Amino acid sequence: MSIEDRVETGDSAVHYDSSPEMFELLLDKNMNYSSGIYFTGDENLDLAQIQKMDRVAQICGFQEGQTLLDMGCGWSGPARYYAEHYKMNVIGYTLSPVQREFAMEKARERGIADRLDIRVCSVLDAELEPESVDHVIFFESIIHMWEKLDLFRMCHRALRPSGMLFVQESNYDRNSNTDKFRGDRGFQLVDEVFGNTATMVSTGEMIRLMEEAEFLPCYTENISNHYKRTLEQWCNRIDQHSDAMSAAEPEFFPDFRKYMMMALATYRQEGTVCHMTAGQKSPNDWALRNPLRF
Ligand SMILES: C[S@@+](CC[C@H](N)C(=O)[O-])C[C@H]1O[C@@H](n2cnc3c(N)ncnc32)[C@H](O)[C@@H]1O
Repeated sequence: MSIEDRVETGDSAVHYDSSPEMFELLLDKNMNYSSGIYFTGDENLDLAQIQKMDRVAQICGFQEGQTLLDMGCGWSGPARYYAEHYKMNVIGYTLSPVQREFAMEKARERGIADRLDIRVCSVLDAELEPESVDHVIFFESIIHMWEKLDLFRMCHRALRPSGMLFVQESNYDRNSNTDKFRGDRGFQLVDEVFGNTATMVSTGEMIRLMEEAEFLPCYTENISNHYKRTLEQWCNRIDQHSDAMSAAEPEFFPDFRKYMMMALATYRQEGTVCHMTAGQKSPNDWALRNPLRF
C-alpha cells in the first residue's frame, strides 16, 4: 500500500504490524525500538540499549519481584530484559498481535514466560487493580496517545505508594512550538502514516500533566544527543541491509526508510528534544532513598 493510500485509509497500524524480520535487521538484539544511552558515543546498539535499560532501572529503583507495567511495549525488548535480568513481573501492552507472538516466543526460549504477560489491548482500555504495580514505563509510546492526563491518572491509581511513573519521549523543546509544528504539512503526513506526531507535547507540558495527575516530578534529563546517535545507527543499518529489509517488507520499506531519515533530520535541527521524565506517587521519598551514583 502506498503512502498516499495509507493516508487515505488512515491505516497507521502497518508500522508496528510489520514483520519482525525487518525490525531484526534494524534494531539491537533485544529489539528495543526507542533511544539507547551512550557514555562514549562509540558503543554499538546492543550496549547502548542495555545501558539505557539499566539507567532507567537505577533511576526508578527497580527490584527483584516487583511488578512493572510497560505501556506500549513494542517487541518487548525492555519488558523481557527486566523480566530476565531484574526478575521483575512485567505486564506489557501493545496493539500488535505480531509483537505479542514474537515476545512470548522469545520469552519461552529464555525461560521467562512466567514473568511476562503481554496483552494485545490499547492502554486506554487497560483494566488495572488499584495499587497493584510498583512502576510504570512509557518508552516512546505516549506520543501516540492523546489522552495523556487520563493515562497518568490511571497509572496513579494502579501504582502502589511511592511508585514511579517513567516517560521517555520526543517532545517539543518549548510549548510555543506546539502549534507551529502541528500545523506543518510534513508533520501531518508523518502523523497520518505512522501515527506519532500530532499528539506530541512539550516537555514542560508533560511534566505539568504528571503534576495534574498528582505525581511529584522528580527526574528530568535531556537525552536528545543519545537519540540522535541511536537514529544514526538505525539509518546506518538501513543502508547496510536495505536489500534484505526491502525483501522482508517490499511495500512498506521505501516509506519506512524515508521516515527514519526524516526522524534523524529532525534531531539534527532545533525544535524536537528527547527527555526522560519521572514522577513519583506520594509519599515522595525518591530523593531520600536514591543516593544516585552517575
Ligand atoms: C516506538 S514503539 C516503542 C516500543 C517499546 N516501548 C520499546 O522501547 O521498544 C511504540 C509502541 O507503542 C504501541 N502503542 C501505540 N499506541 C498504543 C495504545 N493505545 N495501546 C497500547 N500500545 C500502543 C505500539 O504498538 C508500539 O508497540
